[in-house]
Amino acid sequence: MDNVTSNLQHCKFEVPEIIFGRGLLSQIGSCARRLGGHKVFLVSDQGLFHAGWVDKVMHSLMEAGLSFIYYDQITCNPKDVEIEEGAREYFRHGADVIVGLGGGSAMDAAKGIAILVSNGGRIRDYKGPDKIIRPLPPLVLCPTTCGTGSDVSQFAVISDTELRCKMTIMSRCVAPDISLTDPDTLETLPDEFVCTTATDALSHAMEAFFSVASTSLTDVHAIKAMRLLTKSLVNAVRERTPDDLENLSRASLHAGMAFSNSLLGIVHALAHPIGGLYDANHGSVNAILLPEVLRYDIPVVTEKLPELAWGLGHTGKGETSSSGEMVQDTVETLLDAIGAPRSLRSIGVVREDIPDLARKALKDVCIVTSPREADEQDLIRILEKAF
Ligand SMILES: [Fe+2]
Repeated sequence: MDNVTSNLQHCKFEVPEIIFGRGLLSQIGSCARRLGGHKVFLVSDQGLFHAGWVDKVMHSLMEAGLSFIYYDQITCNPKDVEIEEGAREYFRHGADVIVGLGGGSAMDAAKGIAILVSNGGRIRDYKGPDKIIRPLPPLVLCPTTCGTGSDVSQFAVISDTELRCKMTIMSRCVAPDISLTDPDTLETLPDEFVCTTATDALSHAMEAFFSVASTSLTDVHAIKAMRLLTKSLVNAVRERTPDDLENLSRASLHAGMAFSNSLLGIVHALAHPIGGLYDANHGSVNAILLPEVLRYDIPVVTEKLPELAWGLGHTGKGETSSSGEMVQDTVETLLDAIGAPRSLRSIGVVREDIPDLARKALKDVCIVTSPREADEQDLIRILEKAF
């Protein structure tokens, strides 16, 4: 029995219904209606409102005969208080289906609101794995960036404003009923966010591929995401060609399906406390951490390196040692080519906070599937190198 077959015997792979294609945002009304909704709680943000996409969604909802409430009181790295206010608004208006339109912040906020309206309590009650008891209301998520993966994932990441840390909520219940991606929405995404969200997708794909919970099914999606990113990331950032932007959307979707089922690793375990403490852009933090975490992980993932090197566009069989160098070089070259930030200092991290960040990362659910175990000192060393 080969490795692929034995791997499949222990696979669990879950994804929502997926709808993907340019111009398909107009289908959102019919999606919400067939889930049984009458009054939609639409969660989005002001940037998308000004870009015209919220209006397009509202039009689609009206065409489907649905009424709606619009909620945009969310910020980058959505906060527990915003989620809890959203849940009160949902009840106040008697909504019965939730649509999240936006990047990770809007979609995770939509998930958080869905958790509270069906389960009650405070959002921090659901921190960690499998704390959600009751099923969520119908949920449709539409990503408008190219990185988060929240539209297919079993995670919601919410900032705890008292502890100043991001909490990861993990449950099969959190995956939406429908993930609808319209790559046209990337046309209005500012250059900076094309870059940072795509580097988030790159981190998702790499961490999913190296995760101890990876399987042949997740590897297929992780590798596909990496091939698309290698092919189109630089062009999409520099030229913004529709085909390259669509490839980034597709890469985000594949990476999302991979990491939702295989989980992540040290990059995200560290990115969560950093994001919570400094309200830092998630993709930027990942771009800074990924090269250092790769350097740490590569010695223990040698068997997978040739396949990863192929995923990153290198042809030929190659030796394991040279594959490791190829992977490291390709990732760093890609990040440099798109002007990604390369030091924690440059995004406002304070050196004195490093030990506390390392301690918090050890409690993050993403650390569990890291291919290489790490203690507090290991994490401090990674953060120091990335500083
Ligand atoms: Fe991420």
